[in-house]
This record gives sequence, C-alpha cells and structure tokens, in this order.
Amino acid sequence: MNEKEPIGVVGVGWVGLVTAACFAELGHPVVAREIVAEKVEALERGEVPIHEPGLPELIERNRERLTFTTELEPLLEPARLIFVCVQTPPTHSGDADLSAVTGASEEIGDAEGKALVMKSTVPVGTGRTIHRGFPGLAYVSCPEFLREGTAVRDFMEPDRVVVGADPGDEWAADAVAGIYEPLGAPIVRTDVSSAEMIKLASNAFLATKISFINEIANVCDEVGADVTEVARGMGMDERIGPKFLNAGLGFGGSCFPKDTQALKMLAGNIGYHFQLLSSVIEVNELQKRRVTSKLTKHLGSLEGKRIALLGLAFKPDTDDMREASSLVLASRLEGEGATVVAYDPVAAGVASALLPTVEMADSAMDALDGVDAAVLVTDWPEFGKLDWAEAAGRMGNPLLVDGRNFLDPEDLFSAGFTYEGIGRPGVEAEKPAKAS
Ligand code: UDX
Repeated sequence: MNEKEPIGVVGVGWVGLVTAACFAELGHPVVAREIVAEKVEALERGEVPIHEPGLPELIERNRERLTFTTELEPLLEPARLIFVCVQTPPTHSGDADLSAVTGASEEIGDAEGKALVMKSTVPVGTGRTIHRGFPGLAYVSCPEFLREGTAVRDFMEPDRVVVGADPGDEWAADAVAGIYEPLGAPIVRTDVSSAEMIKLASNAFLATKISFINEIANVCDEVGADVTEVARGMGMDERIGPKFLNAGLGFGGSCFPKDTQALKMLAGNIGYHFQLLSSVIEVNELQKRRVTSKLTKHLGSLEGKRIALLGLAFKPDTDDMREASSLVLASRLEGEGATVVAYDPVAAGVASALLPTVEMADSAMDALDGVDAAVLVTDWPEFGKLDWAEAAGRMGNPLLVDGRNFLDPEDLFSAGFTYEGIGRPGVEAEKPAKAS
C-alpha cells in the first residue's frame, strides 16, 4: 500500500492535538473531530490553543494532511482507526468521569470494520464494557505517556508503545502497531485490561517515586542531610534510576493527581484499600504547604508580609495550572495574612482568573521588588539565569525558599541571600553589623 493509513482522532484537547499532529508528521492523513466549533475555527486559522513547544510548527508543516471538523462523518468515512482522546476528569467521588468517553463510543457505535483506539486514561474494565456494548466495533487500548512540555518528543521517541486488544480484534491491534512501527520503539502487545492498568500503574509508580523522595527530603531537613546528594547516590543504582527523584513542592498537573486518585478509587470500588497510594496522595497534599514553616522560621508571623512566588504553572514549559502547587501555596500564604505577588513567564493569564487576589508582575525582578521573601515554585530556566545579586538589592529582605531545589545555595549565598531548599541544608546571609 503506497498511501498511509488514514486516521481519525476524536477530541482535540492537548492529547488529541499532539496525537493528530504527530500522526500527520508520520505521513498519515488525519481527520480530527472537536465539538467546540470555536476551537476548530481557531485551528483552521492556524492558531494553536495550547502552549506546547514544537506543536505549532508541526501543525503548520502538516496542514495538508490535517483536517479539523465538528462532525464525525468526515472522519468515519476514510478512517478504520478512530483514536479517542477525550477528557476523563475526576468526579466529586474521585472516580474518573467517563461521560465524554461513553459519548464518543456511542456516537461511533457499531461501525463494522472500524476500531475504537482508546488514548484517554480510563479505569481498568472500561474497554471490555464498551466492547460488550458495541461488539461489531474492534477495540484497542493504546494509552498515551506524553508529558506536557515535551509531548512532541515523547510521541516521536517513546520508551514503549502499549497496544492492548482482546481475541478477535487482532487486525486492529496489528494496524495500530503498524502505525507506531516507524518510531522504532518496543511495542508491548497485551490484552485490553492489562494495557489500561499499565497506564494507571506507570503514573502511580512515578507519583510514588516523587512522594517517596519528598518524604526523604522532609527527614533530611531534620537530620541535616542533603536530599539532592541522596537522590544522586540512589539514582546510580540501576534498579532505582535517577529520574523522578527531584524533591520539591509535590506533583501537580492534569495526570498524576487525577490518575492516582482514580486508581485508588478503582481499587476501593472492588473492596481493596490501596494503602500505599493513599499515602502518596496525602504526602503530596502536605508537601505543597511545607514552605510556610520555612518562611515563618525566618520571618515569624506572615501577617502583613509581602511574598513573591516565582512560577505558577505546575511545571515549566506549560501554562497548565491544573493542580499546581502554587494554587495551594498562594491560598495558604494569604490565609496566614500575607500579600502575594507572582510572576510566571507563560501561565500568568490563566493563573490570574484562578488567583484573583494575587498581584501578577510583568517580570521576576518586578515581582521581587520590596518583598519580605520569595518562593521559587516552578523551575523555569529563566530563574536560573536571573541576576540574583540585583534581586537581593531589590528585595526588602533577601530570603529565598527554593521549592524545586533548582538553584545553587552557594551562588545565592554569594549574592547575599538566605537560602532554604527542600531537604537540603540552607545558608544564612551574613547580617550587616549593627551600627553602634
Ligand atoms: C505525566 C507523565 O509523566 C506522563 O507520562 C503522563 O502521560 C501524563 O502525566 P506531566 O503531567 O506532563 O506527565 O508531567 P511530569 O513531567 O511527569 O511531572 C508531573 C509533576 O511531577 C510536576 O508537577 C513536576 O514538577 C513533578 N515532579 C516530577 C517532581 O516533583 N519531581 C520529579 O522528580 C519529577
């Protein structure tokens, strides 16, 4: 076959848009369906509604192979494989809200000779339920492992691709595996339920690694060890590995908090108490507020103090504020009577609606003007390049709590700062001698 397999994508959120653009880059004609008409119109005008490095260029380069539509028909007509990339947010009970997934499945229905390929993160058992409802439609679970900020690279250079299908749907699994084959990554062929669990368990394991190192950091704080050194030494053990061992203000974003909660609820719903995961979630909640005690150690009461937050997004290279540590932290500081001023190079617009009482500054230096302390919340590269000696001069009191252990304590000390990290010994600026 000369022509590449046409692909349908349902849901043009962050996962859907990255997936559609990357499939087009691999040479496939892609029809992507989104029910929000304004989004389709914006995409047709060449506007990319999310901040994801490399994505606008990819969409531009593959315009001819990428079609956006509000209808399902233009997608069902050419494509055998329909990738479902709709949202599965948590409900009030912590279970995943599957209404968008169910809606998409019902619309596609029993389309003979077609396959629904599930990219959305769903509870284990969802695939089998959908398949029972529409036995004529093949079903493949192909979970995504994309990270915000590096999604295009993650798509093009995956560690592995998981393709789960049950007996009878091998043709669809073969076709999905064939699409990913040019990427040269190992392809894990398995059943639908195991594929669903691989996704949930991978995210839960990474979240566990983060909460684990955060607890080690909290103990390091008490015993005078340096968690960055501990993580370096641990990470050299191949069984442990160096990644996801950065202690800090905890994990946020659209996936880890939601997926750990969803797996915990999934287990709970079948009568199993997933104790470890409950602790991972609790440790993460407490971690977001830990810096307040570091601030009070130096400032006493925070009442009337002015505190700067450097970074608001849940991690660098994104404007995503979902479950960002900054939300909890800003509210906590205001709860203690402080005034909060913040700077984020990308997320300030999104953040101002969520944090209406926080002053948004136009630059890091502006945010630091006259403050009693600053907290580095997001490890944006530009904070590494800031002139910290100038910053010390601008601040009323040069105290920095580095919530991501991002900066070198010695550099900050040389710049005149009192520095506190998370689980690493701080340095105290020399106080100018009092005039007698
Ligand atoms: C994550 C998964 O990595 C990805 O595979 C999945 O598809 C979606 O969820 P993402 O949410 O984009 O991706 O962010 P990630 O880079 O994994 O970071 C998640 C959070 O953990 C961030 O808040 C980050 O600051 C925090 N983190 C990460 C740490 O606190 N320490 C670390 O060592 C690593």
